[in-house]
Amino acid sequence: MMNSGGGNQWNPDQYMKGAMGDLRTRPAVDLLNRVMHDAPRRAVDLGCGPGNSTRLLRARWPGATVSGVDNSPAMLEKAADLDDAINWHLSDIRDWQPEPETDVIFANASLHWVPDHAALFTRLALALPSGSVLAVQMPNNFAAPSHTLIAEVAERPEFRAKLAGKLVGDFVQSPAFYHGLLRALPGAVDVWETEYLQSLTGADPVLEWVRGTALLPVQQNLAPADFAAFTEMYRARLRQAYPTGADGVTLFPFRRMFITFTVD
Ligand SMILES: C[S@@+](CC[C@H](N)C(=O)[O-])C[C@H]1O[C@@H](n2cnc3c(N)ncnc32)[C@H](O)[C@@H]1O
Repeated sequence: MMNSGGGNQWNPDQYMKGAMGDLRTRPAVDLLNRVMHDAPRRAVDLGCGPGNSTRLLRARWPGATVSGVDNSPAMLEKAADLDDAINWHLSDIRDWQPEPETDVIFANASLHWVPDHAALFTRLALALPSGSVLAVQMPNNFAAPSHTLIAEVAERPEFRAKLAGKLVGDFVQSPAFYHGLLRALPGAVDVWETEYLQSLTGADPVLEWVRGTALLPVQQNLAPADFAAFTEMYRARLRQAYPTGADGVTLFPFRRMFITFTVD
């Protein structure tokens, strides 16, 4: 089976560790700034993770019923740590349907884990009432060394059979694909990309970043000793691709794709 987010051992603390929490939440802020809705009745955060993106919705629309949906119990447990009038639902995006009066579906850094985007985006867009907004951000960094080097190491004979078809990124299409898909539906579509020049510090910071996300399927599909061997080969390659400057800064450019669809 292709990787679909389910079964990955998400670790909310690794995901939000140190400066990474702000860097991962910033695209959610940028996406939310382009959601043109003053007062949604219901706003849902699909793939809410530890609740960092959901809390942005809560703060923006105090009058709305705000929900977070995720299929990781560990992430939802972290999300529910704060009592802040958000409904948390353990549910798989593949089966999820919006309740009536859902005026915003927000999905920051989650739908790249979910297969079959033509069907998924069409289903979500058509489920929304007039005036509502579907807003999505996904990494589109799969051609960068952080991701191609995972694929390169995964091709080694000792890992190939265990990792074939399991890596994240397989589901993400081009910006033009989403534009074409959504402009055929009744509404207004906007698609753009931003490359964040992320400035990281600490030892092997790109490895630390990827441990929270793209390495999860590798970890999930290898025995611990194999995963340790994989990580060392990957670490060595990352050090070449992302050198650390004399001031201790490692630059990690990261490209992300943004999509909004406002229903007619
Ligand atoms: C990278 S985190 C994003 C968290 C948060 N939205 C943010 O802005 O940082 C991706 C989340 O998507 C969830 N996810 C992945 N596939 C899913 C699926 N099929 N159904 C529900 N949640 C899923 C994961 O459990 C994880 O919490």
